[in-house]
Amino acid sequence: MCGIIGYVGKENAKDIIISGLLALEYRGYDSSGIAYNDHNKIKIVKMEGKVANLQKKLGENNDLPHIGIGHTRWATHGKPNEINAHPHKVGITTLVHNGIIENYSELKNKLKNIYEFKSETDTEVACALIDYYQNKEKDKLQALKKAQKELNGSYAFAIIFDDEPNCIYAMRRNSPLIVAEKDNDYFIASDIAAILSHTNEYYLLDQGDIAKVSEKLTFYDKDLNLIHKKINKYQGTINDVMKNGYDHFMLKEIHDEVNVYKNIIKSYVPNLDIQDLKNNFGSFLKYHSITIVGCGSAYHTGLAAKYLFENYANIPTNVEMASEYRYKKIFPKKDELVILISQSGETADTLEALRIAKENEMDTLGIINVLSSSIARESKRVIYCLAGCEIAVATTKAYLAQALILSLMAILMGYERNIISDNEANNYLKELSKLQKDTNDIISNQEYYKKIAKDFYKDREMFFIGRNIDYALCMEASLKMKEISYIHSEAYAAGELKHGTISLIEKNMVVFGIITNSSIASKTISNLKETKARGSKMILVTTKAIAKNYENDDSFHYIITVNNLCPFFQGLTIITALQLISYYVALLKGENIDQPRNLAKSVTVE
Ligand code: F6R
Repeated sequence: MCGIIGYVGKENAKDIIISGLLALEYRGYDSSGIAYNDHNKIKIVKMEGKVANLQKKLGENNDLPHIGIGHTRWATHGKPNEINAHPHKVGITTLVHNGIIENYSELKNKLKNIYEFKSETDTEVACALIDYYQNKEKDKLQALKKAQKELNGSYAFAIIFDDEPNCIYAMRRNSPLIVAEKDNDYFIASDIAAILSHTNEYYLLDQGDIAKVSEKLTFYDKDLNLIHKKINKYQGTINDVMKNGYDHFMLKEIHDEVNVYKNIIKSYVPNLDIQDLKNNFGSFLKYHSITIVGCGSAYHTGLAAKYLFENYANIPTNVEMASEYRYKKIFPKKDELVILISQSGETADTLEALRIAKENEMDTLGIINVLSSSIARESKRVIYCLAGCEIAVATTKAYLAQALILSLMAILMGYERNIISDNEANNYLKELSKLQKDTNDIISNQEYYKKIAKDFYKDREMFFIGRNIDYALCMEASLKMKEISYIHSEAYAAGELKHGTISLIEKNMVVFGIITNSSIASKTISNLKETKARGSKMILVTTKAIAKNYENDDSFHYIITVNNLCPFFQGLTIITALQLISYYVALLKGENIDQPRNLAKSVTVE
């Protein structure tokens, strides 16, 4: 959500900043801008729309700056236009911002007699506050410290002052920011993707930290004590943030799913043996209940895990959307584990939910993809998803990595509670090889999914229905479809449809029914047929074993099948198949698959 990059060094800052912004564009893409030092004067260039527009505008001048800051925006306060785009300048202070200043109205009132505000943004107010204090204190660090004390909400800033044009200040709270150094060139960035073509080593700013970046790097804590930071190393390569011949990052990331499974298996269950899991995940025996918290797809994977935890490990499990959890009354229990699921590890609501769980003295476990992200650092325990960089806004491989880890946890917890025997556990784990093969086969069979997509990509509405874990899979499948294709899609518990919502079913409306569990197959089939009776086109998504029972039933528009797997892994292949269908629907519609409208990755605001 909003991308920031800053550069101080020997190269042309405009080029470095533009390539960084292009790499960060998945964090927001409604406008962008840059500020740079041109012969000791700070020049600002901004444009509405994609970074390519800014690039074009900048290409028209021959400036060769060596210092600058850039920003790609996902609008929160004010329309996505040039005035609201960052950088903002007030007095002698120019800055870019990621986050939300929650008390900006109050601060605006305080400052309105001193400054004239041009934009509708909270950022311009923060800029004015910093300018106010730099004027009063005559010391930049003191000014930043004073401003930090007054700013509520979340922020990552990169700041340049007119009277120190060779220096960038960076500071953060509740929004991520990293700083890096390579051969006396210095970088500030929202995340590693922006600077991977230069270095894979970086320093993480902690809450309230300030970095001063000029011909050297200096770090201060929130009380302005000098601090030393340890270097972190990103384990991937520049290829992680390149399309590498794929038309879209989403397609590349779906193709990467088998590799992600391999990474997870190699790290957590190398011998496909339950003892591996015990050693690598640790024990969960002391917990008698679990709450899972996440947003969007991470919430959906929690819903699927609830079913597995309850049915195969006998642990009552509650699943909460992080944005609800943080404002609801909670009843903390000593023997409860709170699991926070997040790809980015920076989602504002999930981070806050974690802090609430900790305040209530509950044990926390983060299931996180981005290493050293805020939720990973603040959780008591972490299991990393090992999915590598995910660039497409719609999650695919990271969702499946979360789902696999939760499935493995369910097997371990069932085993620890003597519900699953040693033998059974190891037999389930052996199916991991099959999971990889089946996923690979689905991905190799793309033409088939494309053909199905062709049949209904012009439709305006669709439904996904299922029961139990299949309902959780429906929610993910439906979200994927609507977020990238803009077809209005709903996921519904199959048996609940007739209690009102079935009134929406019209002639030729596509209704997907997901069935992975044979014991309730006939129930969901009946619900599908109820929609068929009202004119729907039924598409059954199921296992080969279940499909056998319907091979002579020609009332289905399609029957999409996947190979049979144990219940822990069955949903994963179903989702890969449905991700591909969503991808092809969006492709046929000509939508911007990697950067769908109104969205951005890593939601660091509430
Ligand atoms: C949907 C999607 C979002 C994220 C959600 C949580 O495709 O990507 O729903 O799953 O914003 O993000 P993380 O996992 O980073 O906390």
